[in-house]
Amino acid sequence: MTQKRILVTGGAGYIGAHTAVELVQAGYEPVIVDDLSKSDPTLLNGIEKITGQKPNFQKGDCTHYEFLSSVFKTQGPFSGVMHFAAYKSVGESVQKPLEYFRNNIDSLIAVLEVMKEFGVRDFIFSSSCTVYGQPDQIPVNESAPFKRAESPYGATKQMCERILEDAHTTGFRIISLRYFNPIGAHPSANLGELPIGIPNNLGPYITQTAAGKREKLTVFGDDYATPDGSCIRDFIHVVDLALAHVKALEYLEKQSGTNTYQVFNLGTGIGISVLELITAFEKVTGVKLPYGIGPRRAGDIEKVYADPTKVNTILHWKTKFTIEEALLHAWAWEKKLPAKG
Ligand code: UD1
Repeated sequence: MTQKRILVTGGAGYIGAHTAVELVQAGYEPVIVDDLSKSDPTLLNGIEKITGQKPNFQKGDCTHYEFLSSVFKTQGPFSGVMHFAAYKSVGESVQKPLEYFRNNIDSLIAVLEVMKEFGVRDFIFSSSCTVYGQPDQIPVNESAPFKRAESPYGATKQMCERILEDAHTTGFRIISLRYFNPIGAHPSANLGELPIGIPNNLGPYITQTAAGKREKLTVFGDDYATPDGSCIRDFIHVVDLALAHVKALEYLEKQSGTNTYQVFNLGTGIGISVLELITAFEKVTGVKLPYGIGPRRAGDIEKVYADPTKVNTILHWKTKFTIEEALLHAWAWEKKLPAKG
């Protein structure tokens, strides 16, 4: 039986690369497209180490229709598309709003247009819990209304979801996956997060500090209305997140109709504070983490965690890894990286 080919845009990035691995394990053939503007090609080697197969990688920019069209022509036919390619730094999006809108919106539209041209209809979109803003009710479920986005990055995710909601009626079967906070690395330590420059996100900041690459970690605020004063998030192991994409694809393949649009939260349902995560890291790794308390970071949400009932029930997906495993895997990955970033 020939394998089904799946286009994975942004497949050289943290979540895309882990998903490419799970696609291979599930019997699919991922074709990765990435312009490497925000990712490190090292992750492509990691995919090969885990799967034993050199990934089919096509370098290019997803906002370019002609480039995408040539990939569909030469590397297809594709039975589905997973669209990870996007800019994702909240802080940078405030500095460069137009770049964020241009890149994140244009690439989505270009990918959908090319899919239409080539008659491909199954599409998985990387959305984010950022679409909720600070929700009125926690845990937050998928029917919570969108609050005004805190950043241009968040606004692009809200707009992309709106585009998908409207466009799906023209012959697409679409799932938007709203990620909470992905952390961890592949248990083999061959794949993990590899931010370019100073990390924005907590996970790599913790491991890089523990490895001595950063002097100390700053906790952004301990005066929030939470039990220990630090922000609360729903940290989810990146491999669990990757596996959910495979489940989402299988779900779309089973649909009999030509139009579908569904959104799912991808989280554990457990809220963990920044300080709790630091303590858990120290406990499982035995490494003391130098940290101090700093001011709040602009645009941060006080607390958010998922109600994952919908994804548990409809996609039959549940998280397998614990937070401790996620931290251990991230640490194992960090230790394998060169000493200087
Ligand atoms: C945000 C978005 C998320 C998006 C991600 C992309 C929300 C609620 N979440 O995640 O959807 O996918 O950006 O980058 O909008 N922190 C520190 N010190 C640090 C780094 C982080 O204390 O050095 C704290 C932050 O203040 C925050 C928590 O750790 O409370 C998590 O931060 P981060 O990893 O940047 O993710 P979010 O901002 O939650």
